[in-house]
Parts: sequence; structure tokens; C-alpha cells
Amino acid sequence: MEIIYFGIKICRNGKPQILSIYGISSKEVFGALYRSEENIEVFFRYMNEAWSLHGREVLTAFDLSEFEFIYDIGGSCGALSKELIAIYPNCAVTLFDLPEVVETSKKFHGFSEASRITLHGGDFLKDPIPEADLYIFARILFTWNDEKCLQLLNKVFNVCKPGGGVLIVEPTLDKDKTLPFPIAMYSLLVLLNTEGKVRTPSEYHSFLSTAGFKDIQLKKGNLFDVILARK
Ligand SMILES: C[S@@+](CC[C@H](N)C(=O)[O-])C[C@H]1O[C@@H](n2cnc3c(N)ncnc32)[C@H](O)[C@@H]1O
Repeated sequence: MEIIYFGIKICRNGKPQILSIYGISSKEVFGALYRSEENIEVFFRYMNEAWSLHGREVLTAFDLSEFEFIYDIGGSCGALSKELIAIYPNCAVTLFDLPEVVETSKKFHGFSEASRITLHGGDFLKDPIPEADLYIFARILFTWNDEKCLQLLNKVFNVCKPGGGVLIVEPTLDKDKTLPFPIAMYSLLVLLNTEGKVRTPSEYHSFLSTAGFKDIQLKKGNLFDVILARK
């Protein structure tokens, strides 16, 4: 019954309910998801699925061949990073994720020293993010509230090389926030379980220009939209 009550609240005000339901923030959601190594692996499998189907489509929405050093922010088990190095032979990718995720990734996926993927354990809200040519945020920003999205985009703007950029990969809603229907349904789950929300492309456009990015371009995809912006 409670879920119906919170569902109605969401429909009325379109605001996240995670604090009212669980009394916790998104940061703690990941803590709860990652209770054991086994749980992290379950999450990895869930993350992997999307990129085995849509990875190539999102990474070729724009030609990324000019970007040499790429940070995959919140890259999880590296499914998208692996696609990236397969498509773009001249890039090197650093996967940045929470230390426990990076440790489990190493153990289960055996990234070798020779690989063009390196792993960086840290908290993207608290720890510095190093300089790179491109920062990828794939399925990251919808989890966080507006303030934290801006905090993250400001942070990467400050360290991004001039001429470098940021690539946002997210499901998005139309301007009335009602369609596409599957994304609207997904949006309800997001509002129940995170402090963020599924946004419209213009909301991302506004974050990016506030952070200082320019040349903001959008490519609509089957499930995920891709936004590339430049410093
Ligand atoms: C929804 S998943 C997306 C994973 C991946 N980008 C993808 O699309 O498959 C969000 C990722 O952000 C990571 N994450 C959450 N909070 C983080 C933090 N404070 N610092 C670094 N990574 C974080 C999670 O561990 C998780 O891998």
C-alpha cells in the first residue's frame, strides 16, 4: 500500500521520494547495493547487459576518435570502457568507481597491466578527478539531484583539457515528461529509489552550459540519448 501512496505523491509533484521512503541518500543506496562482493557482481551483470546491446550505438553516436585520454566516470565493471577501446584503437580509458567496485572488477574481470583500461578507485563527489580529454557519464546523472549533477559537471569542467569534452549517456523524457512510455515507467522507479530523476535533454543542456561547456550536441538513440559538449 505504501508504494501506492508514494507513487501518487510522485505523480502529483514529480519529486524523488527516497528520503521519505528509506530516509537515505543515493550514496547510501550504493552502500546498500554493495553489501557483499556477490551483490556487486549481480549489479555488474545488470550493468553489462545494456552495453552488450547498446554500447556500440551510444559510442558511435559521435566520432570520439580525437579523444586520447578518457575517464569513464562510475564505469562499474568496465563494459562500456571495453567497447570504447575496441572501437577507438588510439584511446586509453580510466575507469573511475568506488574502491570496492574497482577491487571486485579487478578480481572478476582481470584487467591486465597491458590493457588500455586502468582502474581508479575513489568517490567522485569527494575525491579529485584527474585531467583528461573526455569524461563519460553513462547512467550516472539520473541517480543524483540537480545540485550534485552540477557539482560533478563543474568538477570535470575544471580539469578537462581545453578542446576536450564530456559525454552524457542517459535515457531521457520528452518536454512534457510523459513519453516515451517505457522511460516514463522507468522514471517512476528512479523517483522511488534515488534522489535523482530521469530528465529531459534540455535539463542536461542547462546543466552543461551552467558548468561552462559549449557546442552542446544531442543524438537521440533507441533507449539512450547521447550528449556531447566541449570545453
Ligand atoms: C547506474 S551505475 C552505471 C554504471 C556504468 N556507467 C554503466 O552505465 O554501466 C552507477 C555507477 O556509479 C558508481 N558510483 C556511485 N556513487 C559513486 C561515487 N560516489 N563515486 C564513484 N562512483 C560511484 C556506482 O558504483 C556504479 O558503478
